[in-house]
Amino acid sequence: MSFDLVLFGGTGDLAWRKLMPALFQAWRHGKLPAGGRILAVARDERSDAEYRNYIREKFAGVDESKQPSDEEFARFAELLHYRRMDLAQPEHYGGLKHWLEERGADTVVLFLATSPHLFVPVVQQLGAAGINGANVRLVLEKPLGHDLASAQEINRAVKASFREEQALRIDHYLGKPAVQNLMALRFGNALFEPLWRRESIANIQITIAESIGVGTRGDFYDTTGALRDMVQNHALQLLTMIAMEPPSTSDADAIRDEKLKVLRSLKPFTPESVARDVVRGQYRAGTVDGKAVPGYLEEQKVPPGSVCETFVALRTEVQNWRWAGVPFYLRTGKRLAARDAHIVVNFREVPHPIFPGTHQANKLVIKLQPEDGLELHLLAAKGSGASANGQEMLSPVSLDLDFDKAFLSERVGGYERLLMDAIAGRLNLFVRSDEQEQAWRWVEPILHAWAAEPSAPRPYAAGGWGPAAASALVARDGCAWAEEQ
Ligand code: BG6
Repeated sequence: MSFDLVLFGGTGDLAWRKLMPALFQAWRHGKLPAGGRILAVARDERSDAEYRNYIREKFAGVDESKQPSDEEFARFAELLHYRRMDLAQPEHYGGLKHWLEERGADTVVLFLATSPHLFVPVVQQLGAAGINGANVRLVLEKPLGHDLASAQEINRAVKASFREEQALRIDHYLGKPAVQNLMALRFGNALFEPLWRRESIANIQITIAESIGVGTRGDFYDTTGALRDMVQNHALQLLTMIAMEPPSTSDADAIRDEKLKVLRSLKPFTPESVARDVVRGQYRAGTVDGKAVPGYLEEQKVPPGSVCETFVALRTEVQNWRWAGVPFYLRTGKRLAARDAHIVVNFREVPHPIFPGTHQANKLVIKLQPEDGLELHLLAAKGSGASANGQEMLSPVSLDLDFDKAFLSERVGGYERLLMDAIAGRLNLFVRSDEQEQAWRWVEPILHAWAAEPSAPRPYAAGGWGPAAASALVARDGCAWAEEQ
């Protein structure tokens, strides 16, 4: 199968930091279909050779094990081409069309790795130039809008020229092996599904903690904040995969229909419930990994007095028969104690305890990063003899599966997986427009409540686990976050 992959924003951050390294890995793993061309498109004048040198230099910043040797790069670089385009000029799209048609590849993937304000005009120009035939797919990277209306505007522009199946919205969390494993865990095994409901599960906690700060992205981040940057997309996608009903097939739409149903069942927020069930925080100076780090307000390009949130914790419910009354807690933030993303499924306690002492309930920890694995926490008899009153003492033990270790040689990175899926037309791991809009619909009341009540977010010291109010939020229900248990 021949393909042309066009990277709009071909000299930008996303292109060289994520996409090129992922394409190189795919090539190295023999996963990039033969007969492909990768065309980078950007504003400045460069030859193919100059672009190849530019990318070669950028690889110096990549993990050593992922850097190409000179010989490897020379072969990979044969795929790379460059084309200058002013994205505001209709004639430049004509030139691109000609370049694509001259060869007539089986598949054309157009990847918009540009600044988001260009999405609508570029999509319109692509449609006007007729670069939207049945063999064309359009890949869009976040941020896809900053609220429902702007997301809908992008979707309208896309729908005017492309069919839904041609539009692939990336949420790079869906490319992570651990996230795919969540589906495998639930629907490839008979063990958990009968327990996966309110009768057996007390609550579910989703944590995406980052130890990094906003770095040099202060200006972008300040207009975004943690709710838009992480909750509307990544955290909600994880929640849908945990809470969805079993799809009838593994087809993209069967899965996405079920995910959409979860988003539609999320308890809507009101100003009162935002005040009660959502905590926003902003980091102050502190210590991360033994190093002193500045507070958010001291970061480059962050406006003085900003009330942008770098942390969100919230409590919600999925209002359906399976989950009625089960709290779902989401939490994400920058400059937390560790880079640690995991989901904890807390099971209910035994209905009638017959052993003395420990009454710890079972829990399943789905680890997403930095490690990727599963931990099942159980109670077991130590076998060290009964206690003074003659009863058996139980101790916590855990079954610990490390998927990185088990499947190491076959693992592929998130972008590598998503790019290969985009080329092959596998849509399962891309977000459909109605899912994305519904996620915005759900977070908007939080944005509105915050805008109406512009008090500063709660401060938290860098290197901790966020404001104390986040612990109080779960403690109210008699729960605790994983690190507090
Ligand atoms: C991006 C956010 O979508 O995800 C970043 O814009 C965040 O702010 C990143 O750092 C986290 O991704 P990962 O894969 O490192 O967990």
